[in-house]
Amino acid sequence: MLKDRKGWRLQYHLMPPDGWLNDPNGLCQFHGMYHVFFQYSPNTPGPDGRTARTWGHYAGRDLLHLQFKGVPFWPVDTIDHDGCYSGSALIDQDLIKLYYTGNVKEPGDHDYTYSGRQANEILVESDGTSFGKKKCLLRNADYPADCTCHVRDPKVWKDGKLYYMVLGARVEGREKNADSDFGEVLFYESSDGLHWHFLKSLTTEERFGYMWECPDYFHLEEKTFLSLCPQGLPSEEYRYQNIYQAGYFTVDGELGARQSLSDFHEWDYGFDFYAPQSFLDESGRRLLIGWVGMPDAPYTNPTALPKGKGWENCLTVPRKLTVSEGCICQNPVEELKALRYDETPVMPHGTMVLPDGAGDFEVSFLEGTEDADWDISFGDAAELSYRDGVLQLSLDPSAGYGRDSRRIRIPHIEFLRVLVDSSILEIYINDGAYVITSRFYPEYIGDQQNLAVRFNCAMAAISGWKMHTMETNREYI
Ligand code: FRU
Repeated sequence: MLKDRKGWRLQYHLMPPDGWLNDPNGLCQFHGMYHVFFQYSPNTPGPDGRTARTWGHYAGRDLLHLQFKGVPFWPVDTIDHDGCYSGSALIDQDLIKLYYTGNVKEPGDHDYTYSGRQANEILVESDGTSFGKKKCLLRNADYPADCTCHVRDPKVWKDGKLYYMVLGARVEGREKNADSDFGEVLFYESSDGLHWHFLKSLTTEERFGYMWECPDYFHLEEKTFLSLCPQGLPSEEYRYQNIYQAGYFTVDGELGARQSLSDFHEWDYGFDFYAPQSFLDESGRRLLIGWVGMPDAPYTNPTALPKGKGWENCLTVPRKLTVSEGCICQNPVEELKALRYDETPVMPHGTMVLPDGAGDFEVSFLEGTEDADWDISFGDAAELSYRDGVLQLSLDPSAGYGRDSRRIRIPHIEFLRVLVDSSILEIYINDGAYVITSRFYPEYIGDQQNLAVRFNCAMAAISGWKMHTMETNREYI
């Protein structure tokens, strides 16, 4: 039960000061400062008295000292009246160039999929603190004729002198419905970042869902990847268990030539992970941040108090991306270790209690025990168990708010890193080859969480740390 506004606030994950948060947007580092924007609906209405979706802004010298800077722009113009939707940042000409989709719903009798919605790609330039005038660069008429009104989420980058943009799109099928429409991405090219022309569209040989949102196109360790969020994939026993997915394809071929997509991998197997975005920081790391949430999910968050009082959702910790055997591994950035304190070796059948519910665990399974069964429980709220090569996260109904269980088939488990933070679990398996991110809502014991993490592992070396509250969050807890 939520006792007061403090309930389940996080110690080291970025969350909205209040209101609703979704996709990470405009991630970048500029003159040393990190900027993390996000889709935001604050509880207080905007300057025109409405509460359409906009952006929120965190910035700081390092990833542990970001400060909430407010709302950089509001959806108050004819080009974005119904939402400043997702987008990205490009560092160029000593500016941060923010590209996003202005969502406009025209009045009238529309279904807003096939008619009545404008998707305007907009540019706002910034020095990191002030934000310039909005410039509309692309409108519906600039997209291929077979696109529905769902085109959005520009990710922009520069290659040599040329600028590129990738957009997510829903293309109209023969029957104009979710069973025949299909997802694809659109590539645009520009010589100045302002005037864009259509380069090509790209999709899979076989239809892969009806809509692709939040695309991201990047090179990593000599390979090219296209990350996106497909909607409409049928669920399977060990894959695609959420209503919508987030994953990446390997891209074969050059952007200017024929390309094909293969090997779709899900970024994360938990209940709450969507719309991730990556960026290159000034040290050359490719970092990824995801939205810890899921649109249209059949489960809920008890922090979402009625009548504009609560808060909902958060972002993952920044994850460093690397490639191993052709797949992307994700691991929490090194910086996070600075929040650790009270290192405690935990016995294979030991328990560690986290007073604020904030901890970090490393579990190394000893050689020869990678296939053995084990489990770890988080109070009475959640259990992670490994049986016969299947890893399962199960949530108790009292803590899951509709979340039940998620399963992955993993032949051997050698190493686990488990981040626990009050009402979120991020579980990194085998050096980040698989990740599970989920919210969970353990009961409070008095004012404290006192979350007992219990290990029941055959043979493992386990270290546990409590975690300090990130400076950013002190203000908002
Ligand atoms: C993904 C998404 C994006 C869109 C944004 C609106 O969660 O639907 O496609 O730009 O959220 O908030």
